[in-house]
Amino acid sequence: MEDNTPLAIIILAAGKGSRMRSAKPKVMHKVAGRPMINWLIETAECLAPERIIVVTAPNMDDVQDAVAPHQCMIQKQQNGTGDAVKPAAEALKDFDGQVLILMGDEPFVDMGVLETMIDHDGLSVMAIKEEDPAGLGRVITHDDGYLSHIVEDKDCTEQERKINLCNAGNYCLPAKHLSKWLGKLSNDNAQSEYYLTDLPKIAEEDGFKTAVIEGQSICRWGVNTRLELAEHEYAAQSILRQQAMEAGVSMVDPATVYLSWDTEFGEDVVIAPNVVIGPLTCIEDNVTIHAFSHIEGAIIEQNAEIGPFARIRPKSVIGKAASVGNFTEVNRSTLKEGAKAKHVSYIGDAIIGEKTNIGAGTIIANYDGFLKHQTIIGDGVFVGSNSTILAPVTVGDKAILAANSTINKNVPGNAMAIARTRQENHEGWASQYRSMKRVQKKQQEDD
Ligand code: UD1
Ligand code: CA
Repeated sequence: MEDNTPLAIIILAAGKGSRMRSAKPKVMHKVAGRPMINWLIETAECLAPERIIVVTAPNMDDVQDAVAPHQCMIQKQQNGTGDAVKPAAEALKDFDGQVLILMGDEPFVDMGVLETMIDHDGLSVMAIKEEDPAGLGRVITHDDGYLSHIVEDKDCTEQERKINLCNAGNYCLPAKHLSKWLGKLSNDNAQSEYYLTDLPKIAEEDGFKTAVIEGQSICRWGVNTRLELAEHEYAAQSILRQQAMEAGVSMVDPATVYLSWDTEFGEDVVIAPNVVIGPLTCIEDNVTIHAFSHIEGAIIEQNAEIGPFARIRPKSVIGKAASVGNFTEVNRSTLKEGAKAKHVSYIGDAIIGEKTNIGAGTIIANYDGFLKHQTIIGDGVFVGSNSTILAPVTVGDKAILAANSTINKNVPGNAMAIARTRQENHEGWASQYRSMKRVQKKQQEDD
């Protein structure tokens, strides 16, 4: 086809995904923190189509939201991949160009192979060689290499089942013939479904040959089961770790570090073993993340130090050279430059000023059982150990909170706040007590 032929992409996402055993649409299951449909949408967008149409089932509003602003068409009953294309073809009835049809459960389809298909002058189907092709359609070619037909696994003869050239499920064909060919599909097969795989055969009867364009797979092809979902996760993590290391991140044991599709890194970041980084996280230059830390939705600024055993929750910012240590949870909070919360603390809905030190065991109690409240702690504040700060509270710059205080009123700058029972010392009391107890014990033994 000529370069300026318009392109439309149809993505099939209406399947029940019954092999997943899930209440959730299959394409909404996540790989590296992102629904699999969104991996595919990104690839589709890179191909610069005029339109992307996603076929969904009724009650799949979450899929519609995930693919917005792209158009969704509804397949009312899930009668097979061929039937699924029909509502999209209806939406494209005035479109004169190429149509690329993709399967929504194949998040890692190779864009280069799709480009080859689009550039190919005529119909094409993507094929992949699989060592274990069970479950996939087999590609049968003519002697000249063009497609003869595709046989679904369930319809294969013993001989056909041994073929390892498989149907990847992606097709490129001229839009103007699509509806006509779809109309000729039958459901006379093992699953009583309208198979899209029968379309090339119908096209051939109409005088159109289909080229077979081979691609590579980085994991077992497509996600039909939880096992295959885990295989895709494994493949995604390997790639993400490699990209991170290429971008200047050191990982002591990469296989134990879990990243998200959108994790951003600066240079000279060091990540110890057993670290999980969820979506929407940015980690800047020279940050060290110690073992067993969990970070999501956070910005970790330059030279900061996290963990070991730290949890940083969404909408948090750990400022430059700030430090969050073991068993500390930070939630919707900002630690400004050089602030420290190194041991066993909860920091929720708070702003912690520059160089402020949060002592061991400090709890910022942000929730009154109904509402969340904010705490603002100024610069250079010293919060003594085991303090409870009942939000909302403001603590001025350079204040000192005495250890074990329960702070429920604002503290002015430079003040010392103490809110605990005063200590009493009773001189000589300990030896008198011991003598008394010794006498009592002896009496008990004599009785
Ligand atoms: C399909 C192909 C198979 C190929 C494999 C590659 C058919 C008949 N078989 O099999 O040759 O090797 O993909 O991954 O096409 N869907 C709908 N509506 C439906 C049924 C499915 O939208 O009624 C969607 C699903 O959401 C899914 C995609 O189409 O995203 C593929 O459906 P699936 O049932 O997974 O097909 P496979 O059995 O994997
Ligand atoms: Ca599939």
